[in-house]
Amino acid sequence: MVDAWTFVPDAAALARRTVLITGANGALGSAVALACARHGASVVLCGRAVAALESLYDQIEESGAPQPAIVTLDLETAGDDDYLAFGEALAGGLSALDGLVHAAGTVGPLTPIEHAAAANWQRALTVNLTAPFRVTQACLPLLKRSHDASIVFTLDDKTRAYWGGYGVAKAGLAGFAKILAHEWAPPPGETRTVRINAVDPGPLRSRLRRAAYPAEDALQLSEAAERVNPYLYLLADASGSVNGMRFSVNEPARAL
Ligand SMILES: NC(=O)c1ccc[n+]([C@@H]2O[C@H](COP(=O)([O-])OP(=O)(O)OC[C@H]3O[C@@H](n4cnc5c(N)ncnc54)[C@H](OP(=O)(O)O)[C@@H]3O)[C@@H](O)[C@H]2O)c1
Repeated sequence: MVDAWTFVPDAAALARRTVLITGANGALGSAVALACARHGASVVLCGRAVAALESLYDQIEESGAPQPAIVTLDLETAGDDDYLAFGEALAGGLSALDGLVHAAGTVGPLTPIEHAAAANWQRALTVNLTAPFRVTQACLPLLKRSHDASIVFTLDDKTRAYWGGYGVAKAGLAGFAKILAHEWAPPPGETRTVRINAVDPGPLRSRLRRAAYPAEDALQLSEAAERVNPYLYLLADASGSVNGMRFSVNEPARAL
């Protein structure tokens, strides 16, 4: 298998592909969106911070990349009607979706479980676990219309002291990705149409990281743009037979 972390895509590796990115205005999400656009994808920028999404939209449009789109969704407060409207908005504007990158995330205060506030626990579970499930479900009708659709989850191995709801949600997300990958594994001899994989990008400079490590020297951390290669690999033709894998920085790829 290709080393996803050093994968160098062709300039047109994602031409004629449409890729939706959640958390598109975040450090990782915007880096993935810009890289996808640079390699020819039409990107759908999903988030709740409209001004930040519009600024990214302008940057992509000015670069000469295919015209992006914006779809707004608050992953903490969205209910049934919002997910219905989200699915309808996508179906109204797109004929198919070739990629879905889950790059949204939130971390609350790091505390021992004994003192964890129920509201923070709930927010972490909603944004980091329930929302990826609901966004995936809403996108599947369009993903199924692609000849080679790729879903990429973003993991973070934090099942250790004080990471509370965030750590639990990310562990649950790995389980969710594995279940989904098994469900979409094609019977022998048939072609796979939706592939599911995950990336753990490792520590990188972002608001989320600063919230967890406020005293850290952020300049010592990698920039998100240095960690986008596995996303490009998993969204491109080059990874055509890869399903149910986890790509963690500085580790060999392994099954979810
Ligand atoms: N940074 C790291 O060291 C690291 C390591 C491993 C994994 N990750 C994962 O990488 C992903 C991206 O994180 P990041 O480091 O790039 O952090 P970030 O810059 O803080 O980005 C997080 C993104 O999630 C969005 N988001 C949060 N709550 C939301 C909500 N309720 N509704 C809609 N969008 C919401 C944010 O939007 P707003 O601007 O609207 O808040 C932002 O776009 C996360 O899944 C994180 O768990 C990060």
